[in-house]
Amino acid sequence: MGTSGTLAGMRILVTGGAGFIGANFVHWTRQHRPDVEITVLDALTYASDGSSLASLREAVSLVEGDISDAGLVDTLVSQTDLVVHFAAESHNDNSLVDPSPFVQTNVIGTFTILEAVRRHDVRLHHISTDEVYGDLELDDLSRFTEDTPYNPSSPYSSTKAASDLLVRAWVRSFGVRATLTNCSNNYGPYQHVEKFIPRQITNVLDGVAPKLYGDGLNVRDWIHVDDHNSAVWAVIDNGRLGETYLIGADGEKNNKEVVQAILVALGQPADAYDHVTDRPGHDMRYAIDSTKLRSELGWTPAYADFAKGLAATVAWYQANEGWWRPMKEATELRYAAIAAH
Ligand code: NAD
Ligand code: TYD
Repeated sequence: MGTSGTLAGMRILVTGGAGFIGANFVHWTRQHRPDVEITVLDALTYASDGSSLASLREAVSLVEGDISDAGLVDTLVSQTDLVVHFAAESHNDNSLVDPSPFVQTNVIGTFTILEAVRRHDVRLHHISTDEVYGDLELDDLSRFTEDTPYNPSSPYSSTKAASDLLVRAWVRSFGVRATLTNCSNNYGPYQHVEKFIPRQITNVLDGVAPKLYGDGLNVRDWIHVDDHNSAVWAVIDNGRLGETYLIGADGEKNNKEVVQAILVALGQPADAYDHVTDRPGHDMRYAIDSTKLRSELGWTPAYADFAKGLAATVAWYQANEGWWRPMKEATELRYAAIAAH
């Protein structure tokens, strides 16, 4: 049972709505579901930027607060029909430096949300990652499905796996009305410059060579953030309660190919990148089989062509330096500190 047909006046609480995917979700929802009333709960950590939602200030309530704050979460959940839970610590490299905020936000924060939706019998949609499944070998043709066993590698992916398992247990034990999605790597506007694609675009714009970890042959299954969010709405509307749906758009590329495409898009030689020290425990390949989502819910991605989506993303960063410039220097200082260890 989904929420189709009940959208007029529907109230949703979007946790992490000032971050990359959450902010794009809010924009997507304003555009495609204008009747939905949106409240964002976000701690406005280093990863967020209030200006991602600036154009929606009139239309969206932004509450600055922590998803581990049980009192605040209880109040907000009691006033909503649906929680869409994006808030997380989301960057693998940071989780290798200090896992503690990952445990606090991803595990304790999700527990706090679950207890509130249980108390108030509010529908939850939990956002997660394909990284909970660990990684695949390059010469292995298989892809992740909903039946792949959990096998996370990093503090980030293990805390996301923990959050998924909490949601599944609250469904089974307490009858919480929840759905889950696990999506592959997203790209698009408003992504923090610590992440691979925006880091390399902004490096090239700054005249700095892109940084490839190791040999650059690691594969990610790229999906445009709007396709992620249209799939989330498909699951909210028509997904079966208690079920997990994998979201992916058949966008497998190795990191070298992506960097070369960014360089070419910005008029630079395709080989003008540097290899740097590899990430410890670096997952080799992620790949999603999204048959369940497509066949059960009829979802298809709008950005079937990665090259087109990437070109639009490069153009967005070129046109929106005012958005990313304030976070660029601090990000590169953090990377320099990691490299110095
Ligand atoms: P992000 O880091 O850009 O945004 C996270 C947001 O959560 C930020 O606005 C931050 O301020 C907020 N936040 C962090 N801790 C909080 C707390 N304790 N209380 C309230 N708000 C808090 O992350 P993202 O890339 O937008 O990812 C969003 C979700 O999607 C995460 O759950 C992530 O695991 C999942 N996901 C991301 C990807 C990807 O490629 N980025 C892929 C699949 C799934
Ligand atoms: P990232 O955007 O951090 O996402 P994730 O770790 O969740 O996949 O990284 C994507 C890929 O790019 C991953 O294989 C690590 C690699 N990478 C680099 O080669 N250089 C970089 O500067 C960064 C940030 C990532």
